[in-house]
Amino acid sequence: MVLRIINGRVLDPSSGTDCIKDLCIRDGVFCDLDEGMQADRIIDAEGCYVMPGLVDMHVHLRDPGYEYKETLSTGTAAAVKGGFTAVVAMANTMPVTDTAEKITKLLERSETECSCRLLPVGSVTLGLKGEELADMDAMARAGAVAFSEDGRPVMNAELYRRGLLAAKRNGKAVLDHAEDLNLLAGGTMQAGKKAKELGVPGVMHCVEDVMTARDIILAKETGAHLHLCHVSTKDSVRMVRLAKAAGINVTAECTPHHLILSVDDMPGADSNFKMAPPLRDPEDVIAVREGLVDGTLDAIATDHAPHSAEEKARPFAKTPNGIVGLETAVPLIITEFVRTSIISPLRMAELMSLNPSRLIGYPSGTLGMGAAADVTIIDPDREYVIDPSEFVSKSRNTPYAGRKVFGKVMYTIVGGKVAYEERSTK
Ligand code: DOR
Repeated sequence: MVLRIINGRVLDPSSGTDCIKDLCIRDGVFCDLDEGMQADRIIDAEGCYVMPGLVDMHVHLRDPGYEYKETLSTGTAAAVKGGFTAVVAMANTMPVTDTAEKITKLLERSETECSCRLLPVGSVTLGLKGEELADMDAMARAGAVAFSEDGRPVMNAELYRRGLLAAKRNGKAVLDHAEDLNLLAGGTMQAGKKAKELGVPGVMHCVEDVMTARDIILAKETGAHLHLCHVSTKDSVRMVRLAKAAGINVTAECTPHHLILSVDDMPGADSNFKMAPPLRDPEDVIAVREGLVDGTLDAIATDHAPHSAEEKARPFAKTPNGIVGLETAVPLIITEFVRTSIISPLRMAELMSLNPSRLIGYPSGTLGMGAAADVTIIDPDREYVIDPSEFVSKSRNTPYAGRKVFGKVMYTIVGGKVAYEERSTK
């Protein structure tokens, strides 16, 4: 099977390539352009970005246990529609992904149920209870790409230190959900004037900052790779910057929502704007943007967190945290950051493909010869309005309904096969 992608703007951060050229894929891998070779299919990508397949290093697929919110099948269908060829699946399912057998089972199921690559995360502690370490060595051997308690922190610092050491001896990162539960004390939106007006318990900046500081210190102590998830405060950005300058093994991601929305954008107590960490103050948004531009933050990840309409219709304080993100990340980043020249398209490919791949030690993020042919083709000029009723995710909890955006994923190619193709003309 030979697939040619012609006339596109090829953006390969692994080689610094940014030019119009053709790509050739044979039997699932990139190969040299051979004029004589007969193509089985030709994709004309004129006017489009051709990037290595996007990798979302922070996704909640909810399967097993919460299939009414999302399944492996619907979540990865949303992923390829959103341009992602691989998703890193967090462990907070039911049961929790905390044994080698569960990692193996997920990988087996992914062969038949997933439209893109499924990269499973193992929990740090058994059942995410924060009491006893899981067998991280066995999970790493079974194929866990990283470890995380995402959704909740490990409050016991000594236990976490040992978890970091276990991750280190397996050459894996710990993906860190930095929130101090005592300081959080049931808070559900950014503390301040608006929370007071709405009568909603607030989340102080220190909830995140205290844990960011603690965990950076533990990373320094252990030498383990600490990856901070969804950095949202200006002081956490500053701490990551300082830690990197001090040579500590720390990396970090941010989400499209913490880059674009602040607490001021919340239209009252609307649960589609509720997530952990919460939308912060405008000065935090500025700091997260600066961190993205100056390289303090390594990756953009969605924290795709599907919840049912019924759950999100409960009173604000009782609704679960999280918003869906797989189908809106590309247009949001193109509209807010690429078209505005805050970042280049090549940097977008670095932040959404090459860097996340490297952070989890997965050999994607490249269009280089011989690599597995994962490709995302995006028309950056296609303009439309985000309509949640068109999502293929099972859940619709998004704050972006009705938002005008640019940038449509036209093709998502996984291992040389077209896993998603945009057919509509709107
Ligand atoms: O908003 C969030 N939702 N943040 C998290 O860290 C967890 C996630 C979820 O699982 O719903």
